[in-house]
Amino acid sequence: MEQMGNNTEIVDLKPKQSDFRTEVLQGLLRDPKETHPKFLYDERGSGLFDQITGLEEYYPTRAEIEILKIQGESIAEYLGENSLFVELGGGNGTKGSILLRSIRSPRGYLLVDISMDALKLAVRNISSEHPGLEVKGICADYTDYDVMANLGVSGKKSIVFLGSTIGNMEPEEARRFVANCRKVMAAGDTITIGVDLKKDIGKLEKAYNDSRGITAEFNENLIERINRIFGCSIGKSDFIHRAFYNQQEGRIEMHLESTRNQTLKLDGVSVKFRKGETIHTENSYKYSVEDFSSMLEEAGLREVVHWTDSGANFALFSAKA
Ligand code: AVI
Repeated sequence: MEQMGNNTEIVDLKPKQSDFRTEVLQGLLRDPKETHPKFLYDERGSGLFDQITGLEEYYPTRAEIEILKIQGESIAEYLGENSLFVELGGGNGTKGSILLRSIRSPRGYLLVDISMDALKLAVRNISSEHPGLEVKGICADYTDYDVMANLGVSGKKSIVFLGSTIGNMEPEEARRFVANCRKVMAAGDTITIGVDLKKDIGKLEKAYNDSRGITAEFNENLIERINRIFGCSIGKSDFIHRAFYNQQEGRIEMHLESTRNQTLKLDGVSVKFRKGETIHTENSYKYSVEDFSSMLEEAGLREVVHWTDSGANFALFSAKA
């Protein structure tokens, strides 16, 4: 346990870190080739993602912050008083901090994140903005039910999962995640989830194909990571960023497209690419209000409510156990 200040502490449950080498190679041997989106977030990838959140075309972060600011009172009313907040994967703590401005007498703020660096930053930011509030960080994998079931919190709690991270889960995974949260909630506890909504395809595709090419850099950084970790030298122009909306699946897909026929040698294994073949690097699912509300209700949650930004691009859903 690490004490950061009078009211803050960090507990490291030493979550199992992903094995990039094994998992990426396995994914590249699949047909079609794919890698898990978590591999986009090394130090450089996380920095690029931060830049994405400030881009004109990338509306989700701005929209979610607008909801937290403008609907703060109404959200606070729904969540009630004397809750212990449990934020899952809270990034740098900015949004949690904004939410807390409206909340009446929170009992404390607990952050759970798999990244120790992000956790320390978030704990520091939240406690400096809310002096006197007990802020605790747990370095752990919140998608692991055992972690959620053993958080050791007592009394009323409010689970918070912002940033539309749920959109990067496959629908089945998202359902399981919500069901697991429901299982650790007692009657009256709440859950609040940020969700990107279905909308005009042009707007969606622009958000993932920004004019400054930051999203392309974010995606193509995976190739640099492969070069570094496998010790190979894939050229900058050998793979290019592709992002498009798959209407049938209701998701933005991000791919890295091979610009020529080529064979990569990774740990002695040959991985062949045809020109135009892709590595599927991320899905970002978009939901309708009806579909997401049903998902919450099917998990046994009740009194489902939602707030949207002025452009109806994004929604914050809350529900009770
Ligand atoms: C983190 N996540 C919600 C982002 C999204 O929109 O799916 C990741 C991202 N990928 C490209 N741009 C942003």
